[in-house]
This record gives sequence, C-alpha cells and structure tokens, in this order.
Amino acid sequence: MAKLWGGRFSKNTNELVDAFNASIDFDKRLYNEDIRGSIAHANMLAKCGIIPAEDGEKIVAGLKEILKDIEAGNFSFEVALEDIHMNVEARLTERIGQAGARLHTARSRNDQVALDMHMYMKKEVAEIAELLINFEKALLTVAKKHDRTLMPGYTHLQRAQPITFAHHLLAYFNMLQRDFRRLLGVWEGADMMPLGAGAIAGTTFPIDRHDVAVQLNFGKVYCNSMDAVSDRDYVIEFLSFASMLMMHMSRLSEEVCLWSSTEFGFIELDDAFATGSSMMPQKKNPDIAELVRGKTGRVYGHLQAMLVTAKGLPLTYNKDLQEDKEGFFDAVDTIKFSLAVYTDMIMTMTVNVDKMQQAVSKDFSNATDLADYLVRKGLPFRQAHEVVGKCVAYAILNNKFLPEISLEEYKDFSELFEADLLEALKPENCVAARKSYGGPAFTENEKQFAIGEEVVAAQEKTLAELQAKL
Ligand code: ARG
Repeated sequence: MAKLWGGRFSKNTNELVDAFNASIDFDKRLYNEDIRGSIAHANMLAKCGIIPAEDGEKIVAGLKEILKDIEAGNFSFEVALEDIHMNVEARLTERIGQAGARLHTARSRNDQVALDMHMYMKKEVAEIAELLINFEKALLTVAKKHDRTLMPGYTHLQRAQPITFAHHLLAYFNMLQRDFRRLLGVWEGADMMPLGAGAIAGTTFPIDRHDVAVQLNFGKVYCNSMDAVSDRDYVIEFLSFASMLMMHMSRLSEEVCLWSSTEFGFIELDDAFATGSSMMPQKKNPDIAELVRGKTGRVYGHLQAMLVTAKGLPLTYNKDLQEDKEGFFDAVDTIKFSLAVYTDMIMTMTVNVDKMQQAVSKDFSNATDLADYLVRKGLPFRQAHEVVGKCVAYAILNNKFLPEISLEEYKDFSELFEADLLEALKPENCVAARKSYGGPAFTENEKQFAIGEEVVAAQEKTLAELQAKL
C-alpha cells in the first residue's frame, strides 16, 4: 500500500519494518478522538480560509461516514498504513478525493496523536471518576451497617486496640478521596490542547488554535509548540494516580484475603465473587482480591516503563513516545475492571460480626485502656504502662485475659485499681471513649459518615462538570 509519506523513498518498506513500526493494533482505540479532532481541525481550516469551505464540508461529512463505518465494524485497519491517523486519512481521501488530501494542512501526526491522547484521557478520567465514586459509596454503605461492629485493630499484624469495622473501612474511604483528588489533577494535565504545534515548530498558516480548543471543549492550549508535541507528563500523572489507587486496593485485598481465611473468619465472600479449586473440593478462594493485588505490580510496571522511556529523550517527538500507549491503555482497563468488580464484591460479602466481637473480647487489645484508666486516677502514663505491662505478663502466665483477674490481684500491682476497672476494659467502652478527632468512637464515626456523604455529593457535582466538558 502506498505510504502517505512515500515521496522521497524509492523502495517499499521491508515487511518486518511495517509490522514493527505499526501502532494500529493498539491505537485504533483512539478512532473516535482522532476523527473528532480532525473534524475540529477541518472546520478551523475552512473558517480561517486555509482550505475552501466546500472542501471543509466534504471532509467533515466524509469523516462522519468513516466514524459510522468503524462503529458498525465495516472498516478494515491496515498495518501498512501504520497508525490510526493514516488509516483514517487514507480512507477519507479514497472516498472524497482531493479534498481529503487537504486535511493534513498545518498539522503533523505529532500534534495529532497528542490531541487524541489528551481527548481520550479526559473521557477515561470521567469514567474512572464515576467508578471511584461508586466504590467509595460501597465502602460508606458497608461501614454504616457496621458502625457498632467491634473488631481488633492491628499494628505489626498483632492485635493493638479495639476499633469498629466501620472505622477500618472509613480509612480506605479516606484513601480513595485522595485518589479522587489526584484524578482531578490528571484531568488538569489532560485538559490542554496541543494541536497546531505541527511537527515541532507550529505552522506558517494563519490557524486558530483557540478555536479548535473551544470546539473540543479544552480549557487550555499549550503555549509552546515543542512542549506540546513532546509532553507525556499527563500520561505519567495518570499512571502514578493509577499506581496509588491500585496500591490502596491491593492493601485492602491483602486484608480481604486474611479476613476470609479460616484463621480470621471475619468475612465470607459471596459465592458469586469467589472461586473454587479444581482438586480440593472444600476450597473457596478470594481470587478477585488476589488478582487486584497481583495486577498492582503490572500497573506499577507501566509507570516505571513510561518514566524510563521519557528520561533520555531529546526534544521533541521521538518514536519512543509511541510506547506511551499500551501501558496506559492497559492501566485504564485494569483499574476500571478492578474498581467495578471490587465494588460489588465489597457490597455482597458477609461480615461475621460475632467472629470479630469474639476476637476483640479474647485478647489484650484493651491494655492501653487499662493504662489510661490508671492515668485518670493520677498515675503518670509511663508508670501506668509499666504496671499494666506487668498485669499482662501475669495474666498470660495464669492463662487469663485482663477482665478475668480479680481486684485483689490487681491491687498487688497498684493501689489505684478499683472495681470500676472492669468497665474500662469492655471493648465497646474502649471504642466509645476514643473520642479524639478522627478516633474510632461511635460518635466520631457518625460525624465522619455525614462528612463522607457531603464529600461524595461534591464529587458527584464535580463529575457532572467534567462530563459536561468532554
Ligand atoms: N503512531 C505514532 C505515535 O503513536 C504517531 C505519531 C507518529 N509521528 C511520526 N513522526 N512518526 O506516536
């Protein structure tokens, strides 16, 4: 097939070179953005008198037909035409003749591919924002149901202090809020219009880049042509957002795996969200959580790959930059899939409230509360810590937990102990008393639920604004 850039060549390209060079297999995903971008470009060229108005009309009509064909599956993408840009342009010229050959005036594939990627990223950011909000809502819903469900909180994976399941889930809800904020930062980087930068140094034609930006709903226009064609910061920002989001889901996955083990028994995944073993009939495995944890490594890999690809590149466009796509597309697919499946998995899991309560009543996670009790009776905390440490050692030696030691025995450790110490040891009282701002007290979490609802409502408003700017 004749190359659109074939003029200075006297030989056909080697077949291996065609296959190696081509990006059509993966960049055909940009067809919609490529065509809408070309329509805006053609409109602008006609408005500015750079191409005849009737050619502009023919181009726009022809591109709309091609869009329909692609959507109907009636378009064959040719490897010999390298990428989505030349596939569309070649087909256009085949259809409408001479007018099609005017489309690429004042444009290069370097600014064209940058435009497509920016538009595509904005669309994906909006879709991901919606999935992220749904996941946050699921966490809030389950947390609210378990506002009174006591469980041990862990440090070093050792039982530390009593908390509620709600407080634990709200911690993830807060991480996701930061992810949402970072996603809005990704939008900022994507919402900048590069077309008109040409191959590197703009164009001699009297184009109107701001008109293209308005047609395509871009908030800003790149103000340096060289930056416009070589910038991939927005891809790296996306991948770093994606990596952190996956890190959060991976940490939750680790907990889901632990909690659903027989050893913990805190949750049971719904049958529809777990899998079995081909050999061991009894197995019910948390594959979804494991896969999300596993896919996190792959998304980190895409971030690392893009950082390394970009680090040695001289300005401006270099073909290395074609490598920005597969990792980015894969990260998009991975986080969208992970968010969607995770939301439903969390909503449908069974929480074994009794198991959690049992765990927190048969352990030493109330030891800090006993020390705090002595502090309230006047003992300095460091000494109270020492006294309770001795009580714990004594209890372990006698195969007991703190509430099972008698008051007389306690008196041997400190005269300050009174009968009311038993109240201080009850896990629900331990939680209720932790009223410090951001603490797990029931009353505190109630406030956090209300704030959480407001946050989600504000995010939904922001999402609607983004959708209106696509
Ligand atoms: N397929 C290319 C990419 O994704 C498009 C830009 C090609 N530009 C060029 N001068 N060869 O980067």
